[in-house]
Amino acid sequence: MNLDGATGVVTGAAGGIGAAVAERLLGRGAAHVVLTDVDADRLARTGEDLAGQHGTDRVAWVVADATTTDGIESVLAQVPGGLPSLFVANAGIFRGFGLDATDDDWASILDVNVLAHVRAARLLVPRWLESGTSACFAVTASAAGLLTQLGSPTYATSKHAAVGFAEWLAATYGDRGVQVAALCPMGVRTPMTENGDVADGEAGVAHGSVSTAGDMMDPLDVADVLLDAIVEGRFLALPHEQVATMWAQKASDPDRWLSGMQRYRRTLES
Ligand SMILES: NC(=O)c1ccc[n+]([C@@H]2O[C@H](COP(=O)([O-])OP(=O)(O)OC[C@H]3O[C@@H](n4cnc5c(N)ncnc54)[C@H](O)[C@@H]3O)[C@@H](O)[C@H]2O)c1
Repeated sequence: MNLDGATGVVTGAAGGIGAAVAERLLGRGAAHVVLTDVDADRLARTGEDLAGQHGTDRVAWVVADATTTDGIESVLAQVPGGLPSLFVANAGIFRGFGLDATDDDWASILDVNVLAHVRAARLLVPRWLESGTSACFAVTASAAGLLTQLGSPTYATSKHAAVGFAEWLAATYGDRGVQVAALCPMGVRTPMTENGDVADGEAGVAHGSVSTAGDMMDPLDVADVLLDAIVEGRFLALPHEQVATMWAQKASDPDRWLSGMQRYRRTLES
């Protein structure tokens, strides 16, 4: 996909990876980018900052809940022509630790990390097919969706489901003009991962594995890896290259991989 002149929507764009993707999209020549988030104050600050750098005619922001069809429709209404050429389903939460994760934790994380993507695709894909224009649906999943997330069964499961949904979309629509990409980073320096060092118990294991499994990356570098994958037509965007090797090792010998995860978990507990 050519990003020059593209129109983009990025959910969860008040900060972190979403704001970085919006910034890099504008830097690579997108004609118009709509940022959306539930955090109104942070979203307005980010939107104003990007509009100041790239022009008020190229940037809009809408406070909306990415898990609701009405929320997504209100965002699409701000896109020139009503249909973006790129939708980045990036909003996500990190919630629920160990078997103590409650039904509420499970319901909310599946809603934000998986069903929001399903609802957006349900709106967009038929419109893209009907318009006959090429488009891209990108999902910010996680390395946790290919490997696992120690400490957080909710996050591990939701991100596996996010990768699974993105794969299904790609297999079903990828040869009909709807490109699909899945971003699967390990740790990234964002509000989601700050203050993780004060967590204990299973939350401590979860945050400890995020900060020690690989280098903590800068969100702008992660955004570049996603946009490179989109431009080159690749499904998987892996900012931490070792994830490809770890994923292959998991597939070739799952028992050995699980023993390694158990050993790593014990080091985090101690
Ligand atoms: N930071 C990491 O180490 C890391 C690693 C792998 C994947 N990810 C994923 O990257 C994505 C972005 O996370 P981040 O690290 O930038 O953290 P972040 O907390 O800065 O960004 C997530 C954003 O999503 C927004 N959000 C939450 N629920 C929403 C909803 N219902 N509707 C709209 N917006 C909502 C939040 O307000 C927040 O601004 C998430 O999907 C996360 O799971 C992060």
